[in-house]
Amino acid sequence: MKTYIVGNWKLNFTVGEASIYLHKLLKTLPNYRDIEIVAAPSTVALQPLSLQIDRHKMKLAAQNAFYRDYGAFTGETSFTQLRGLVDYAIIGHSERRYILGEDDKTVAKKVAAAIRNKLTPILCIGETESERAFGETADVIRDQLLGGLSEVADDDLDKVIIAYEPVWAISSGKGAKLATPDEISEVVKLIRKILGETYGTKLAEQVPVLFGGSVNASNAGAYLTVPGVNGLLIGGASLILNEFADIIEIAKRVRV
Ligand code: PGA
Repeated sequence: MKTYIVGNWKLNFTVGEASIYLHKLLKTLPNYRDIEIVAAPSTVALQPLSLQIDRHKMKLAAQNAFYRDYGAFTGETSFTQLRGLVDYAIIGHSERRYILGEDDKTVAKKVAAAIRNKLTPILCIGETESERAFGETADVIRDQLLGGLSEVADDDLDKVIIAYEPVWAISSGKGAKLATPDEISEVVKLIRKILGETYGTKLAEQVPVLFGGSVNASNAGAYLTVPGVNGLLIGGASLILNEFADIIEIAKRVRV
């Protein structure tokens, strides 16, 4: 399986800044066959960056889109419109769940819409600090995982990527803490167990599981060696060119 290094730029960079960043990043990148490098700029930058990107070196992701393909949905962008611009779409990020009110039903429709439009959904799941404190982590993971996949046909499970992002470890959260490799390993095992029970172990093993939450160049190596982790979803550190490039280098070393 490939190692995925995904930079989630969130609401940062103007289109011009994004273009300059991408230009510099592409210059530093050789063509890594086993590492899938992905950047998720804001929607407004996707069209120009899709013309600029070298798809042999890296790919683009949307940070979100609407689940209907066309129609009277003022202000929305559909996965259909993103076809040809991006290969991936981040769906159900905790900032969308908790700041923008997205529930599992909406997330499920978006995951299905991404697949219908031949884009790979990166379904984000993760518990909050209080859910963890109350011992609810396993239930939250199960609900968000099976809820988010509820409109995916079994045959399409191999088209999905899961990102485990404990909300308490994301630096947008107040007082983010670093997740330990043991904490991550436990939840990643649980994710594969739930997938295995629902879809069969063979299919479950094919689903890449990424980790995200305050990943940087100092901890990327440790996180990438957690058993079952196939890559990283990186917010803040992906905005710093040298740091993101260092993480890609680390991913390359960890694979050898
Ligand atoms: P962070 O964000 O790396 O800044 O914690 C990760 C994410 O929200 O995807």
